[in-house]
Amino acid sequence: MPAIVIIGAQWGDEGKGKATDLLGSRIDYVVKFNGGNNAGHTVVIGDQKYALHLLPSGILTEGVIPVISNGVVIDIEVLFDELEALTARGVDVSRLKVSANAHVITHYHRTLDKVTERFLGKKQIGTTGRGIGPTYADKINRVGIRIQDLFDENILRQKVEASLNQKNHLLVKIYNRRAITVDEIVDNLLSYAERLRPMVTDTALELHQALEAGKVVLFEGGQATMLDVDHGTYPYVTSSNATAGGAATGSGIGPGRIERVIGIVKAYTTRVGSGPFPTELFDESGEFLRSKGFEFGTTTGRPRRTGWYDAPIARYSARINGVTDFVMTKLDVLTGLKVIPVCVAYSVDGVRVEEVPVSQSDFHHAVPIYEEFPGWTEDLTEVRHFDDLPKNAQDYVLAIEAMSGSRVSAIGVGPGRDAIVVRHDLID
Ligand code: GDP
Ligand code: IMO
Ligand code: MG
Repeated sequence: MPAIVIIGAQWGDEGKGKATDLLGSRIDYVVKFNGGNNAGHTVVIGDQKYALHLLPSGILTEGVIPVISNGVVIDIEVLFDELEALTARGVDVSRLKVSANAHVITHYHRTLDKVTERFLGKKQIGTTGRGIGPTYADKINRVGIRIQDLFDENILRQKVEASLNQKNHLLVKIYNRRAITVDEIVDNLLSYAERLRPMVTDTALELHQALEAGKVVLFEGGQATMLDVDHGTYPYVTSSNATAGGAATGSGIGPGRIERVIGIVKAYTTRVGSGPFPTELFDESGEFLRSKGFEFGTTTGRPRRTGWYDAPIARYSARINGVTDFVMTKLDVLTGLKVIPVCVAYSVDGVRVEEVPVSQSDFHHAVPIYEEFPGWTEDLTEVRHFDDLPKNAQDYVLAIEAMSGSRVSAIGVGPGRDAIVVRHDLID
């Protein structure tokens, strides 16, 4: 089995680590290909809970080689903090590989992220404030700092100078902040260089060789389809390609290598930050999902916005990513609801629309058209076979499968690693 991609099919926090865990020991490499420490993955193993941001959640699987590839933006301090915290808990992180071409988040990127948000006022994106947008902006603007620059002080200084020159004008004259000196940035980055050096490599080449040798390479997307800079709810998105295509550009493997695309969907919907969200709930049902599903951001602790399952969004994700399998998480959270509405289409200015509208204004006006399904009261967390789920829970999954454009191959029934019902093998 060659390359497998896991992506979020909604607005993030679908529980992407669940699918990674399911593949477990059959994976040789796990690759983070987009985003940075804006991601937040909570993984529960036995009585241990891990919160990861920059590192892929597959790092917790013994024997796997974790890779941070070129498409990622790296806050080096966060990288070492996470590595140290995992090491202290007995996780072997010694095999981590970091791409020489990945871009570096610096102090000025974090500062710019925060001040630009403040200046946007009511129109703010609600970013995680980790410097993600400004770092990708520098990359596209060709004034970014890459990991390989840390190994040549002369080059590093020139690049930081070029990048800071403009930014200091902006920081001082527009945003009323202090200027940042080239020395403070260069000294900070150089202080990590020697610790970083052994991890840094040509990850595109290594992944190519691994695939040639028949290894299983899992690409773990951060964020999600609706937060993708091209295909999401722009401008309320992150600044990277979180969709399956991003796995190829973000790692340097050929797209033809990808044979399986696993889309992760929650049995309902959540979103953190601003932007349209047609099925959002503002009543006690929304509060029910938030408290029962513990919907609070892993990265910023913000309460997540909650709403019902949106089938047009799942269908859109299936199409944009070429989803071969869905993993539905958190079905257990719906236990206890009398009826469970599912959005099957939208009404846009009085007209029924089956697909996610291409016009952002239409999407802002989209009113969900719901179909209601009967709920169940049985606890699902110990269920391991589809046939043992309550009939109404089975019907809910089957109805969603029929609407969502791909088969539902596994179903999450609790936060624990083993709390999953498998219907189809994800590697065969
Ligand atoms: P990610 O960003 O996609 O990696 O997801 P997060 O870690 O941000 O959020 C998913 C949360 O749901 C985590 O706290 C998981 O432990 C939890 N989770 C995952 N699958 C299930 C499930 O099937 N049931 C329940 N109750 N919780 C789950
Ligand atoms: P995981 O990988 C949910 C959201 C932010 C904000 C927007 C832009 O845990 O699913 P950014 O800091 O990236 O510039 O913020 O994107 N966002 C996420 N929402 N889960 C995430 O990651 C997210 N990463 C970014 O809340 O609305
Ligand atoms: Mg998350």
